[in-house]
Amino acid sequence: MLAARDNVAAHLQPTAKAMMFDAGADPGLMRQAVALFAEAILHARSPPWTTTVPSATTGHAEEDHPGRARAFYGQRDLAFRHNLAVLENIWATMDDIGGLKSKAITLPTQMKTTPRADMERRGSPFITHASKLNHDAEQISNLINNGKLPTKFWRVVHDYIEVATSRPDTEEVSDHQYFVMSMEQFTKVGRFFNTLLYLPPTKPLPHAVNPDLDFAALEESYLSSDPNILFFDNFLTPEALQGLIDFCNEGTIYFDTREGYLGAYLDEGLGTPLLLQIADELRWRFPMIVGDLPLGNAWSYKYDSTGKGIRIHADQAVVNLNFWITPDDANLDPGSGGIVVYKRRAPADWSFADYNHFQNEGKISRHVASGEAVVVPYRQNRMVMFDSTLFHKTDSHRFKKGLFNRRINLTFLFGSG
Ligand SMILES: [Fe+2]
Repeated sequence: MLAARDNVAAHLQPTAKAMMFDAGADPGLMRQAVALFAEAILHARSPPWTTTVPSATTGHAEEDHPGRARAFYGQRDLAFRHNLAVLENIWATMDDIGGLKSKAITLPTQMKTTPRADMERRGSPFITHASKLNHDAEQISNLINNGKLPTKFWRVVHDYIEVATSRPDTEEVSDHQYFVMSMEQFTKVGRFFNTLLYLPPTKPLPHAVNPDLDFAALEESYLSSDPNILFFDNFLTPEALQGLIDFCNEGTIYFDTREGYLGAYLDEGLGTPLLLQIADELRWRFPMIVGDLPLGNAWSYKYDSTGKGIRIHADQAVVNLNFWITPDDANLDPGSGGIVVYKRRAPADWSFADYNHFQNEGKISRHVASGEAVVVPYRQNRMVMFDSTLFHKTDSHRFKKGLFNRRINLTFLFGSG
């Protein structure tokens, strides 16, 4: 049954995308293609991961877990947002691109701005950088080579690379700097850029979290540390690790374009059954740390080969669970590349913006200057758990180039903070 469902999802998606490719600006054909694609996405998200699945710890229906419900419904809407909402309306709003471009853009705040004011999701179809376009071109190439997108998508790869290598106007723009696409550039790539092209089906496994870990000892170690910080290796089973690697390499869900990295989120494609299984297993493997805390959010970030990553900040949750999946041989500096967790909490009277927004980096740096920090080097399948109010940042990293070598982390935020 499961195999049949996976086959449907895997085969419908390329078929639907081929139809979209051919539909062009014909709204009727596009609507048919979108309907077929949506059906494929629903197959990828169909039972047993439905609203009737009870929580592993409470036995309540999953509606009691906002994170899971949000992942499910977000996934269902994904096909429509990235096709009907974007593709059908995008052409009607193209005149606004000129207006957007004429403004002084201070990114990343305005990168979320699109001409469609009601589109409150992350990622803009108009603002990008060369690194994002190159990543997407590599991803699409890989999908074509694996038979998961039609060969006619080589044209899309070609167009992405052409836009990535052409500089907007006369400005000199680095691979990591944002630019607003010109009308000509947008016309070339806009039909598929930052839309969902392929969502890999994943399967529930007998165990996703490594069952051989000594969970009681790990939990005791975390709870007795002050402040609460713990890291350990061999977090996932080999099957779960490989499943997530394939999902992140193939899923065209990294819509959020940031300086030095790309982001995918729970309610925009990342909430695959395998990820939700891991979240559930964390609940009952770590009942005192996670237990019934709501899953506030989950994300995956994919980094450029070198850089500083995410600057110092704290998060709005109770506990952060962060792990890495890229193979170790991609990391050119095994002594770093991980995360730095400061032993200083965000003061209770600081607002979310005070402790999370990057423009307050100076204030945060002064706050943590007198404290110690735990530097956790990068390792594949290493889990780092810490109190979400602790300040932290990505350590400097140097990885090999290429789609399969990008440093990938996944993060769960449990509790509302
Ligand atoms: Fe964080």
